[in-house]
Amino acid sequence: MKIILAPIMGVTDHIYRSTFSQFFSGVDLSMAPFISSVQARSIKPTYLKDILPANNRLMPVIPQILSKDPDDFLFLAQKIIDLGFSTVNWNLGCPSPTVVNKKRGSGLLPFPDIIRRFLDRVLAGLQGGLSIKLRLGRYAVEEIEALWPIFNQYPLEEIIIHPRLGAQLYTGSVDLDAFAQCLTRTNHRIVYNGDIRTLADFIDLNKRFPRIDSWMIGRGLLANPFLAGEIQSFHNPSLKSDKEMDILKAFHTALYGKYQEVMCGPSHLLSRMKGFWGYFAENFSNPDTARKKIHKSNTPDQYLTAVRHFFEDDGLL
Ligand SMILES: Cc1cc2nc3c(=O)[nH]c(=O)nc-3n(C[C@H](O)[C@H](O)[C@H](O)COP(=O)(O)O)c2cc1C
Repeated sequence: MKIILAPIMGVTDHIYRSTFSQFFSGVDLSMAPFISSVQARSIKPTYLKDILPANNRLMPVIPQILSKDPDDFLFLAQKIIDLGFSTVNWNLGCPSPTVVNKKRGSGLLPFPDIIRRFLDRVLAGLQGGLSIKLRLGRYAVEEIEALWPIFNQYPLEEIIIHPRLGAQLYTGSVDLDAFAQCLTRTNHRIVYNGDIRTLADFIDLNKRFPRIDSWMIGRGLLANPFLAGEIQSFHNPSLKSDKEMDILKAFHTALYGKYQEVMCGPSHLLSRMKGFWGYFAENFSNPDTARKKIHKSNTPDQYLTAVRHFFEDDGLL
């Protein structure tokens, strides 16, 4: 199961994303807030600063483009792909009046012909994959109904659905019946997004939509940065929460310190700790790798480096 940090313009920039990943677990990747395509055929590197690989070493990121013009989109997408990205996302969801009134974001959803022409042109020229993030429509869910026959003709990487209408902005509730209907209309990989604020919200959605294995969360994670960790450890009980990991770490430190005091010499100490890890490794996502790495250490320094690695990078093993 994958949890994606949603793009929240003005908050989830690369500094936020990187710092988040240093403190909290459970988020597998993020989507960057949109970059608008431009008519000009030159783009300053600072325009792409938020998605530069050097600024995104700690958390993988999918770049997103806001555009209604396929040629402008392709130009910007190529610049992004040249940076090493394999997929770009097309924003068909933004509800902001200044955006939708220019037929961009969710403002394009009532126009299936424009969307078809856009996809025809873009998918013929794009060197990488394309995913789409959208709402159910601008004014009515019938808009997305009319779009499925179009989306189903193209090789899209995935479609992220926030089941609200553009006209709702962020008011009212998500329309889960309409989301369920979408799942019957397509074989594209669908990502659910919208109003996951608590573990209980996730549990309900997960029960109702067992086919969904990617979840995008925005405001819920900004409010409770532990949320993704809580969801991941619920979903896979062998994963520990951050708090549990802290306790395990403190436990290991105390145990090691005590053995160090009483055992005569490093080889006895390491042998005792290796025995301990035979069981303790089960707290990590890949117990066999943990056991092997610990077993290979010949000095206390090597041992402590391996231990630090497991506590700090468990999600990456
Ligand atoms: C202030 C703000 C800025 C947003 N910026 C973007 C954006 O740049 N691109 C995008 O696709 N969605 C954007 N969104 C929408 C979110 O990514 C997400 O779809 C929406 O908040 C619903 O998910 P949530 O309930 O988990 O927050 C924004 C939402 C808010 C509130």
